[in-house]
Amino acid sequence: MQSAASCACLRRLLRNNFVKRSQQQLHKETERLREQIRRHEHRYYALDDPEISDAEFDRLMERLKALETQDASLIRPDSPTQRVGGKPREGVTQAAHSTPLLSLDNTYSQQELLEFDRRVREGAGKDRVEYVAELKMDGMSMTVLYERGLLRRAVTRGDGAVGEEVTENARTIRSLPLSLNRSALAKAKLGPDLEVRGEVILGSKAFERINAERERQGLAKFANPRNAAAGSIRMLEPSVVAERRLDFFCYGLLVDARAPLAEHRQALGTLSALGFKVNPHWRHCRDIEQALEFCREWEAKRESLPYEIDGVVIKVNSIALQSEMGATAKAPRWAVAYKYAARQAVTRVHQIEVQVGRTGALTPVALLEPVSLGGVTVSRATLHNEDEVRRLGLKIGDAVVVERGGDVIPKVVRVETAGRAKHGGKLRDFRMPSRCPVCEGRVVREEGEVASRCVNANCPAKLKESILHFASRKMMNIDGLGEALVDQLVDGKLLRNVADIYQLREESLIHLERMGRKSAENLLGEIEKSRENSLERVVFALGIRFVGERTASLLAGHFGSMDKLASAAQEELEAVPEVGPKVAASICNFFREPQNQKLIERLRAERLQFEQKSKAVKSARLAGATFVLTGELKSYTREEAKQKIEQEGGRVTGSVSKKTDYVVAGSDPGSKLEKARALGVKILDEAQLDSLLQ
Ligand code: IVH
Repeated sequence: MQSAASCACLRRLLRNNFVKRSQQQLHKETERLREQIRRHEHRYYALDDPEISDAEFDRLMERLKALETQDASLIRPDSPTQRVGGKPREGVTQAAHSTPLLSLDNTYSQQELLEFDRRVREGAGKDRVEYVAELKMDGMSMTVLYERGLLRRAVTRGDGAVGEEVTENARTIRSLPLSLNRSALAKAKLGPDLEVRGEVILGSKAFERINAERERQGLAKFANPRNAAAGSIRMLEPSVVAERRLDFFCYGLLVDARAPLAEHRQALGTLSALGFKVNPHWRHCRDIEQALEFCREWEAKRESLPYEIDGVVIKVNSIALQSEMGATAKAPRWAVAYKYAARQAVTRVHQIEVQVGRTGALTPVALLEPVSLGGVTVSRATLHNEDEVRRLGLKIGDAVVVERGGDVIPKVVRVETAGRAKHGGKLRDFRMPSRCPVCEGRVVREEGEVASRCVNANCPAKLKESILHFASRKMMNIDGLGEALVDQLVDGKLLRNVADIYQLREESLIHLERMGRKSAENLLGEIEKSRENSLERVVFALGIRFVGERTASLLAGHFGSMDKLASAAQEELEAVPEVGPKVAASICNFFREPQNQKLIERLRAERLQFEQKSKAVKSARLAGATFVLTGELKSYTREEAKQKIEQEGGRVTGSVSKKTDYVVAGSDPGSKLEKARALGVKILDEAQLDSLLQ
């Protein structure tokens, strides 16, 4: 006979077994569902070839969500439900690229392209070289790192050497796989650690939708899909990014062992097989003539695409030849961009509006009957200044040819005078106003200048522009201080100069339109952080005429402090490389102006950086040494460890090769450790890294 105790024990055992089994079943079912969903996502977002209806897809997703809600231990970071799982970004984190993200040399004619081919053939010592021609998508380049098959990090191009980490936002892009297809990895003989590169873009439809929405909300519209894509991927809130419907086209694969891939066209095939979206419009060309044919074909067909392209990229197909040719500091020698000419359209100017800029310059802007230029509706075009209006012979009511190049602002190329006779009666001349259209201040055009300026020092339009300039990305980089908010802050007298930005308080911000407590906190956080910006950024942000990014950097480096710069005489300024008499005079005038002196004192009181900090590299103890980090470290995050190594002059890269000096292995290291062992690279634990750093 069994005792009561052993009966209870048996019951517990049975129950545990049952729980275990049902959990196993749940686990299996969620995995099965995930696999199905991933496959359908890939078909829908990457291949544009869905197999099931949206409703069926939604049902699968709902079922998966329900299971994961029932038991949170079933959630995996690469589950399709986790695309918007991450926390908002707390400001911007810089990340160095393992290999620089290069740009491309441009060609604009058949002649230049043939010239490129001649150089390649000469280098290769061949009569004919094979190429791959791809569409050049007009977005923002991004690099994505996978570790052990899982998406780990996404970084924007930045300056090519260092970009911004945008991982959580990249996870919202449905055409970007969260995990790599294992069997495709094995088939391509690739390890689970790899890096892919491609272009984040926004389709024309999504672009129009976002701009329509922004217009409704009184926000400034994006000038083109490229700016919208770049702005979106850098946003702080992943849930908002998810709504933007960004897309990612992959065009490059970076792996240490490139050996299995002999040709670029194989790399494109492998990327597709791994689950990436590769633009289907590429062609293997047996020579440059075929590549040229591809360029011509797509120039005619580009309007039919649902996204913008600005040309074709032509790449040497042989990977061995690519490696042999290498790159300059700026661009690879084995690839080139063939850029299309700007697109033009004819429309009518129904009005000319005058805008007031930061320096008070008045800019005439043509208001156009909306016209589509390559999928983007254009309704304004700059006319630069009064002389330009005269040069064009433009009258209000004229039909004009407008053009939108790779750059942001569309421009008027010429007037279509032919149809004027019919329209003649309704045409009006444009005259620059003698009073500022914003503050009614006096407008003056100095001798020898093309610009007319409003001379009222307190003109709100000038103030708004100078605040936007001060807060912009390359200057004080205050994310969130955009046009609509600056309008409210200046109109509500909360900002009278740029120093007032540092006096903004939550209580006054939350009463503004579209400003909740959370946004106010974020903005104040950004403002606080901006106090840390270097002297060169502060000098650039002041908006001194003719002082751009490079001059500001030269000035900060030369004088080392705001005070020395402010008191420098004209001759001392001219001694700075690249600073001529005109720039020097403008700097002297700026610091002589009592209003500007007051502003400088206020900024000093707000603790902005007035001294040049010593360069980031503290010593050269680790100069030239290359490190790879793998696994988790106890006392540093990856980013901190990286910064410390870089401060000592070392370099941190993403993948292990024979050139790696040290692999630092934390707990739970990845395959990089195995690779380091196989290659005989020195392996350090955290304590050894510590002692190297101290
Ligand atoms: S290859 C080292 N392929 O164009 C090779 N770039 O103007 C560099 N781009 O920064 C890139 N489509 O962001 C390549 N099919 C394509 C591309 C492409 C767009 C962008 C890329 C690059 C820029 C250079």
